[in-house]
Amino acid sequence: MMETVTHKLTPVKAVITDVIKETEDTVTLVMRVSPQKTPEPGQFAMLYAPLVGESAISFSGIRDGVIEHTVRRVGKVTTVLTSLSPGDVIGWRGPYGKPWPMSEARARDLIVVAGGIGMAPLRPVIHKRIDGGEAGRTILLYGARSPDQFLYKKELREWQEAGVDVRLTIDKPHPSWSGRTGFVTELIPKALETAKDPVAFVCGPEIMMKVAIGVFEKSGMDLSRVWVSLERKMRCGFGSCGYCQIGPVFVCRHGPTFRADEVRGVLGW
Ligand SMILES: Cc1cc2nc3c(=O)[nH]c(=O)nc-3n(C[C@H](O)[C@H](O)[C@H](O)COP(=O)(O)OP(=O)(O)OC[C@H]3O[C@@H](n4cnc5c(N)ncnc54)[C@H](O)[C@@H]3O)c2cc1C
Ligand code: FES
Repeated sequence: MMETVTHKLTPVKAVITDVIKETEDTVTLVMRVSPQKTPEPGQFAMLYAPLVGESAISFSGIRDGVIEHTVRRVGKVTTVLTSLSPGDVIGWRGPYGKPWPMSEARARDLIVVAGGIGMAPLRPVIHKRIDGGEAGRTILLYGARSPDQFLYKKELREWQEAGVDVRLTIDKPHPSWSGRTGFVTELIPKALETAKDPVAFVCGPEIMMKVAIGVFEKSGMDLSRVWVSLERKMRCGFGSCGYCQIGPVFVCRHGPTFRADEVRGVLGW
């Protein structure tokens, strides 16, 4: 029998089965990809908006054969992707990139630090820790600009009930908010006080990740136990075109998740 060979650049079909509005400019696309794929938390796919182009988008959900991507509208491709409806079909290729090192965090306390849309690639980490009945604690430090900017609002309560220590903060005081205020990186020292032998995964705007690395270092954390996820504009997604290159590193192939002590040298932080 002839085997069908699919080139890494050839998209497969993804059928949108649901669209969940997260914020004014962000949706979660629920889809079925055929043939079915089994990505890992931290990896990404290239989503093709017909006649417009492709964007790298992380997996924000990967349970039971259903794939989810949370997309924020910033430009041409993401405007199309955030306007999709159930039944629409898009092109999809992947999974690409290095996942979060879940095994490094096994049976250890995990501090997850998320800023804004950076919560998206960390959501499957939370799911996996809950589903796997993880022995170590999971502490989620999640910051947003304002209360309406939090993603997965309903799930945040469910995660808390499932044993995740969820600590939210918004940048500045807001009339509808009685919780913490200040940048998410300010929550790191307190989380470290009670965490045992922790590992940390961090994703958010680049400046937030840079500050987070500094705070972990100042608090005495070994930076070989901290990982961040970098973002660069991508074309091929698998290390062939050099578009995402920073010095010797291809973000798509060597990352997007990197160990903090290694990324510092690459970015000159
Ligand atoms: C590994 C990886 C994972 C990602 N995961 C997600 C995700 O889960 N959800 C999500 O909404 N977005 C994610 N992104 C970002 C997403 O790829 C870009 O926002 C998207 O490609 C923008 O395309 P556009 O055509 O809509 O915007 P464009 O019209 O190309 O650009 C709009 C603006 O965004 C800037 N921009 C575009 N792409 C990037 C980029 N990759 N990094 C920094 N600035 C950029 C442009 O310079 C411009 O200012 C991820 C990016 C990478 C590399
Ligand atoms: S996007 Fe082509 S090498 Fe990274």
